[in-house]
Amino acid sequence: MSEKRIRKLDSKVALVTGGASGIGRACARLLAQEGASVVVTDIQDRMGNDCVTEVEASGDRACYFHHDVANEDDWRSVIAGTRQTYGRLDILVNNAGIAIAGLITELSLTDWRRQQAINLDGVFLGFKHALPLMREGGGGAIVNIASTAALVGSSNLVSYSATKGGVRALTKSMALQCASLKDGIRVNSIYPGIIETPIYNTLEGAPIHGSGGANSKHLSRDPDALATMFVPLGTKGEPADIAAGVLYLASDESRYVTGAELVIDGGLVAR
Ligand code: NAI
Repeated sequence: MSEKRIRKLDSKVALVTGGASGIGRACARLLAQEGASVVVTDIQDRMGNDCVTEVEASGDRACYFHHDVANEDDWRSVIAGTRQTYGRLDILVNNAGIAIAGLITELSLTDWRRQQAINLDGVFLGFKHALPLMREGGGGAIVNIASTAALVGSSNLVSYSATKGGVRALTKSMALQCASLKDGIRVNSIYPGIIETPIYNTLEGAPIHGSGGANSKHLSRDPDALATMFVPLGTKGEPADIAAGVLYLASDESRYVTGAELVIDGGLVAR
């Protein structure tokens, strides 16, 4: 008789923002495979629902809520919906993000603020609204998806880098705040390098040519070309590479890890 596999996240509930596409979708699928009930949220409703259908087709559990991470009322209703659907929240993956490229002199204040609102305000609101429900359950894990653009300069992605640098500092400070409150919540961040996802197609602004570090030269919309130029391991990464890191930081295997920075980039920032 075959024994039932023990899954790393059995009985846990995970919320993944930006879960309709790319890295978020891979996270939703992997966390569900490992036994979590997954709340997938996004602004792309059709793709978000498709993700839930995929998870359910594998016999796992997920539900979808429309959720603009920059909107505080949306956070209130997503957390209320999570409580109503699954009764608790153990894992939050702050993943939703956009990227706007180009010269700072051509960037409108409106676009600067939109970039900050989604990538950084969204993470702040995630902490603010998810922590009370996580604390009710006695603890949990928050994983923030930053970027190697938080670790090295990027002449193309200036406003994006600023948001990801903010996510980096916010993550470390929140790790300490949660530890000081002894609330059982660990807070860590992940730094993806060049990962093939639709973000390269939706990249806004006009990429420029210049020399300002590994993330910046000849910004292209082709992850293969970028990886050949800049990644020591020579290839782009896949969303599953990031999901594997999220699973580690979300599971009890990382019970002694908080405030950590997990770089998953094929060596991009090592040189
Ligand atoms: P993606 O474009 O495939 O996924 C991003 C998701 O966020 C999409 O489903 C999109 O609808 C959603 N989203 C956008 N604005 C939103 C909003 N206001 N509220 C809720 N959801 C919203 O891109 P990818 O690559 O999967 O990006 C995920 C995260 O990984 C982002 O934070 C990105 O900055 C980060 N990242 C990605 C890298 C890459 O090479 N793909 C490298 C470094 C970081």
